[in-house]
Amino acid sequence: MSEALDPRLVAREADAVMPTYRRMPVELVRGEGAYLFDPAGRRYVDCIAGISMANVGHCHPEVVEAIQAQAATLINTSNLFYTEPGIALAEWLRDHTIGGKVFFCNSGAEAAEAALKLARRHGGEGRDEVVALRDGFHGRTFGALSLTGQPDKQEAFRPLVSTVRHVSRDDPAELDEAVSERTSAIFVEVIQGEIGVQPVAPEVLIRARELCERVGALLVVDEIQTGLSRTGPLLASSEAGIRPDVLMLAKSLGGGVPIGAVVAAPAIADTLRPGDHGSTFAASPLACAAGLAACRVLADPALQDDVRRLGAILLDGLQALVDQGIAVDSRGRGLMCAVDFAEPIAGDVVSGLLEVGFLANNTSAHTVRFLPPLVISEEDVRELTRVLPEVCGAL
Ligand SMILES: Cc1ncc(COP(=O)(O)O)c(C=O)c1O
Repeated sequence: MSEALDPRLVAREADAVMPTYRRMPVELVRGEGAYLFDPAGRRYVDCIAGISMANVGHCHPEVVEAIQAQAATLINTSNLFYTEPGIALAEWLRDHTIGGKVFFCNSGAEAAEAALKLARRHGGEGRDEVVALRDGFHGRTFGALSLTGQPDKQEAFRPLVSTVRHVSRDDPAELDEAVSERTSAIFVEVIQGEIGVQPVAPEVLIRARELCERVGALLVVDEIQTGLSRTGPLLASSEAGIRPDVLMLAKSLGGGVPIGAVVAAPAIADTLRPGDHGSTFAASPLACAAGLAACRVLADPALQDDVRRLGAILLDGLQALVDQGIAVDSRGRGLMCAVDFAEPIAGDVVSGLLEVGFLANNTSAHTVRFLPPLVISEEDVRELTRVLPEVCGAL
């Protein structure tokens, strides 16, 4: 446990904050690159990056500079007026992803809501179904939760809002069964992060694309966790060979500042009409200035090469745990990796890593996930792979 964790802080939190999060026993007060620091100045190597929110690392100088300049000029006004930073970020996203046009929002769940409305508006009357993948995760608001194919997260909140049919991430035949003329959209991730970095079968992704063509539905690709160079390329879907009609981004898009985006391909870019959707905070100059700075950092081919190279080193280290009989499976792409244990020790592994100065996260009792900032050093990745067997061995 972090020696600096003040019990008074824990008590204040328990008194004032709703108990929706299970927190790790550490208080963080400062971040720099791949490092986070507690109040006593102890340094942790961040291997979770706010669940892929901090791909640029903490307080990246270019993001800080953009935020400081924009904060001193205009933080936010209203979507009733023109402001340039949102236009500049939309142009960047259009030019670097799938063309078309962008709707900004404030989070991943809001991106799912916007994509749902876009699909419903596009489909028109009679297209009242969407298809999504079991075990997928798209957020926790009601629409997004309805898409999220994880019954444990849904159960307490039924009835949910949409008619969503969930199908397997491995079996294209289930997609064939579920998709019909009533389908407005198929929502997919390329790799399901929240369930423990599970790749969706390439044939399911390809069949989803084909079925969308056949029935006139939209292929919505949620790259909120996989996107912006997390797996190596700017978009995981480009490597998977599928062209989204609608792309969802959030998390690392703002370099740490809340922002989400839905990019709609050219043919459907004007589907949402004036008054159809909006948000007070969306496209704030502050978030968009931070976002443009973050995107420019994340699109650097040298950084993307590092992601591939360091991801391979990390995955080798996780595979070594399997080879030594400590773990049972490892998988990953770029710097999005996970390792499975036969016994329910993943929480203990995370606690053990914390003791030796590494922050990671377990997606279940059996699986530890690693999503470090993409600016992590080779030295820190190697050190992580060195301490992991020791931490596991000490359990
Ligand atoms: C793939 C994916 N979609 C959507 C979301 C929801 O994003 P947010 O927490 O910003 O609402 C997440 C969050 O973990 C995610 O990983």
